Order: sequence, then C-alpha cells, then structure tokens
Amino acid sequence: MDVHKAVIPAAGLGTRLLPVSKAVPKELLPLVDRPMLHYIVEEALDAGITQIVIVTSQGKDALADYFDPAPYLEKVLEERGEGATAAAMRRVRTEAEFIFVRQHEQLGLGHAVYTARHAVGDEPFAVMLPDDIIDAPTPALGQLLATAQQYNASVVAVEEVPPERISGYGVIEPEDVADGVYRVLSMVEKPTQYNAPSNLGIVGRYILTPEVFSALNHVTPGAKGELQLTDGIALLMETQAVYARRFEGIRHDAGNPLGLIKASVSLALKRPDLGPALRKWLQETLAQEQG
Ligand code: G1P
Repeated sequence: MDVHKAVIPAAGLGTRLLPVSKAVPKELLPLVDRPMLHYIVEEALDAGITQIVIVTSQGKDALADYFDPAPYLEKVLEERGEGATAAAMRRVRTEAEFIFVRQHEQLGLGHAVYTARHAVGDEPFAVMLPDDIIDAPTPALGQLLATAQQYNASVVAVEEVPPERISGYGVIEPEDVADGVYRVLSMVEKPTQYNAPSNLGIVGRYILTPEVFSALNHVTPGAKGELQLTDGIALLMETQAVYARRFEGIRHDAGNPLGLIKASVSLALKRPDLGPALRKWLQETLAQEQG
C-alpha cells in the first residue's frame, strides 16, 4: 500500500485554547520555538509522506503563510550561525507540497476529512490531528504505515487510557492479532467510562483507504452532534477490515493549556541548547515550592 498524502484537519475553533486561539490559530501555537503544526509536517516527512493537505477555515490564512518561503530570514539566521534553525524552516517548505482546502462549516472531524476528498482522490491516505504531538524514536505515522502495509488495510493509532479519561476518545473493541496490533471489531466515539468497549483510545494518527469517503458521506451526527470520523471508520468496517496499532512513543494532547505546557517542557528538556538550564530552573522552582 503506497501512501503519498497526509490530511491535517486544522479548521476547528480551538475553544479549549481560548482566548489566545481567538487571535492565533491553535495549530500555530508554539512548542518551544516552532508551531505544533511544524512538528506534524516533520513527522509526515520523516515517514516519507510529502503531499500535505491542510483543511482550514475562515480566519486561518496564517497557516498557509507559515509555509511560505522566507529566504531573507533564512539568510539572516545563517549569517548569525543559526543554520540549524534555517534548515528546519527550509525543510518543511521545500520537502513538503501543500494543498489547502477550506471547510466552510465546522460540522465535525469526519466532515473535515470528507472536505479533503477531491485533494486526496482514489488512494489510501494518512490523517494527522495536529494537537496530538507524538514524541517517538520511529515516527508514529511510520509505525502505522508499516502495519497498514503488512495488513493492506486501514489502521488507527491507539494507546491505553485511564478509565476517568476514556470518555474523551474514540474507543475500539480489539481482537489481538500480533504484539500491539489488533483487528478492530467495533469502535465508538466518546463512550462513557462504563460502556467503553476497552481501555484503548484512538490517538490522532490514521491510515485510511479511500472508501472511507463514501462511508463519511453516509454518516449522521453522532457524539456532540458532530459528523465523527470514528463513525465513518465504523461504517467502513462493514465492508473492510480495520486494524489498530499501539504505537511506541509519548503522546501529548497539546490542544489544551496543561497539555500544551507539558509538551513544550518535555520537548525543551530534550534540547541540548535549552534542556540543562530548564532542568535546573524546574528543580529550583519545585524545591522552593516544597521548601
Ligand atoms: C478526536 C477523535 C477521537 C480521538 C481524539 C484523539 O477527538 O474524534 O476519536 O480519540 O481526537 O485526540 P477530539 O479530541 O477532537 O474530541
């Protein structure tokens, strides 16, 4: 199965990050010094996917602007000896090819993905939710692709979620097929803690066959009154097998204030230029608080 395109739904209102998301699209909020969307595009490139379809909406033109060439800024950085930053900026705009699609009404994640159908065409594709930041030795999307290729089928990423948080996820009913790989028997969006079919919550990485578009076309409003991607995939399962993969790596939900801070701190601690000073400051601050 060859996958060339990744759809990044970025049309939402970002209400969990108001008031800042009123002025800045949440996908451009920084984790250390680059927007969360930058990490997502890098993950796609690391997995060998270069065609990026971004679903945006009114007021979010800054998403497209971010990937515009900036030769002057890159030159300034290089003259200052900050070539690595210049290279990071250059990489996402030169290696990736972008298509921007507008979603005119925020009818739900399933509808956002459906909006990308003409840009995707009749081929398997990836979906990457930009507020799920996954720090992994092998890009999470690459792990998913390997499973999709092995089973020649759609695959969703899952992780174990504690019972008190499971109601925030799409949840699968799994059947073990290999270590960390499941055949999905059913899936439900935002179940209660008591009717969740397992503790395996869907995380925002998917490889989907194009038949999901006709399934999404038949979906009716589900959880939160929205057209849900989970419901589209559940419909797809009536005609095709769908698998789930427990990925290796740490996932941050950067779509809310605490998750955004945790993701930023955790990524900064790993950076040789920032990690040591941040670690020292955190230790001193915590010691003072306990003191
Ligand atoms: C979306 C999906 C849900 C998934 C979650 C992962 O929900 O609908 O199935 O578990 O992303 O982040 P949202 O977080 O947009 O409510």
